[in-house]
Amino acid sequence: MAGRIPKQFIDELLLRSDIVEVIDACVPLKKAGKDYKACCPFHEEKTPSFTVSSAKQFYHCFGCGAHGTAIGFLMEYEHMSFPEAVEELARRAGLSLPKETEGAIDRSESTADLLGVLEEAARYYRTQLRETPRAIAYLKGRGISGDVAGGFALGYAPDAWDNLVRLLGKTPAEREVLIRAGLAIRKDAGGCYDRFRDRVMFPIHDYRGRIVGFGGRIIDKGEPKYLNSPETPLFHKGRELYGLFRARDSIRKAGRVIVVEGYMDVVGLAQFGVDIAVATLGTATTREHLERLFRFVPEVVFCFDGDRAGREAAWRALEIVLPVLHEGRHAAFMFLPEGEDPDTLVQKEGKERFLGRTRTAMTVPDFLFKGLAEQVDMTRSTGRVQLAELAQPYLSKVPAGLLRDAMLDRLKLSPAMHEKLSAQENRHTGRIANLGPKRPAPIMRLAVAFLVQHPELAAHIDDSLSLQGSDLPGMPLFRMLLGLIKSSPKINTASIIEHFRDSEHKHSISRLAAWRHSALEHDIVAEFQGVLTQIHRTAVREKIDTLLQKEKISGLTSAEKAELAKLTRLPVEKAGITPH
Ligand code: UTP
Ligand code: MN
Repeated sequence: MAGRIPKQFIDELLLRSDIVEVIDACVPLKKAGKDYKACCPFHEEKTPSFTVSSAKQFYHCFGCGAHGTAIGFLMEYEHMSFPEAVEELARRAGLSLPKETEGAIDRSESTADLLGVLEEAARYYRTQLRETPRAIAYLKGRGISGDVAGGFALGYAPDAWDNLVRLLGKTPAEREVLIRAGLAIRKDAGGCYDRFRDRVMFPIHDYRGRIVGFGGRIIDKGEPKYLNSPETPLFHKGRELYGLFRARDSIRKAGRVIVVEGYMDVVGLAQFGVDIAVATLGTATTREHLERLFRFVPEVVFCFDGDRAGREAAWRALEIVLPVLHEGRHAAFMFLPEGEDPDTLVQKEGKERFLGRTRTAMTVPDFLFKGLAEQVDMTRSTGRVQLAELAQPYLSKVPAGLLRDAMLDRLKLSPAMHEKLSAQENRHTGRIANLGPKRPAPIMRLAVAFLVQHPELAAHIDDSLSLQGSDLPGMPLFRMLLGLIKSSPKINTASIIEHFRDSEHKHSISRLAAWRHSALEHDIVAEFQGVLTQIHRTAVREKIDTLLQKEKISGLTSAEKAELAKLTRLPVEKAGITPH
């Protein structure tokens, strides 16, 4: 999705935004030297180690390591997705988004009309609930108090064909908006009618509290039991989670969130004081759902029915969650007794016992290995290897880290054995093993850090740089950066970081942006030249070694001999640096 927002736009946006202003609006900053400081919003602390650099347009916490650009800050602090953060920054900077981003951000010109009409519809449904004893009785009968119903802004859509259309669709243009908002359905013969009739209405809020859709439950028997808004420019089932906006603070405080299946489960749990539950909207959990939740909390507990359908749904969730389980993120699976759902269970056993179940939910390795072990005969000597083979496709989805190590441990597989199995798997599937970027040599790290932190230094590098042929680890990244800076000379640290957002180098780049190395602080031009000289020396030595080795083994061509002679005589101090 991020790919659709042009990089030049991000550059422009970061040039026109001020990270100090953006962060100061959320976390008041104090000037400290050339930087700004505050107590870190991402971890508990008493003395400020959260630092914002106006020059680099970058923040970094020396306590917990949190770091990023203005875009990254909005993503972390406001829990926005990348396109959402870009949209928000652009709005603040008074920039309009380029056309290409429409797909990424869903800004057809008039989502404002849609938001307005959804808001008004919610208000109308609420008043109708107050005036409809039958609907009130239904909710009471399900144990929902007036307070909780009010907290969720529940409503009622009357049993008629055109209440909403008559109220909010007086002109053809207004009716068009109702249809686009998913509130009315077009008739073949022209005109339109209300989508929701005789239903208890659950407004669905997006991550920033705007109503983007509705779910409606039939009161008596009828089909379908729940009717949801269709996909609209504002409403995407695969993205929204019911109850997230309302519960965001308690979820953040608890450090975990429970994902359940139904609207009534969320409301019913809240009625009993379990206010950390959200529901998917009649769809399976998506990666987008999980990314959103993991921006809030480190732990997601999935709650499933105890029956076969529930276990199958859990396997689907497992496959979606494995790839996003980066270091520090946890998922757990809890299964309910057969015939119960969270709503009925919490009524029977109350808050504490229900929460107790979530705390003893199965961990990812527990769930995975228990499921797989059912498929092999562990009493046979080949059982363990077979289990390892079955586990392999799952293991290879887990990002490297403690979790994967723990899973390998469980299989009693040595890392070598794991390599072998994953090579085997890669051969089967024809994929190339992802070895990740080579770790750069220390001197190259410093060189890259210089360019990231002080892009203006690129002007000191001569184009005819004799680093060309070198294959020191880190050199390709250095060259890539150099090319980037030369092609957009106004670029700053923040834009560089954003350029690498989808790259395998993303983590090294942002770590290097935050690196405090004395060379990077004072007399940087001279320090940088020193670094380049050192790299040049290393590169020359490397080249000489290769040539000497070749000489021993197979002899050198006359061109190579000439090169070797030139290299051994080269005054290395001049290493392709333009004096300034
Ligand atoms: P369930 O059918 O499991 O019902 O739907 P429930 O949550 O127990 O509902 P109550 O307690 O009878 O009121 C779970 C979820 O699946 C979606 C809805 O999001 C619902 O909350 N669903 C269900 C639909 O979208 N359409 C349907 O017809 C049924
Ligand atoms: Mn139910």
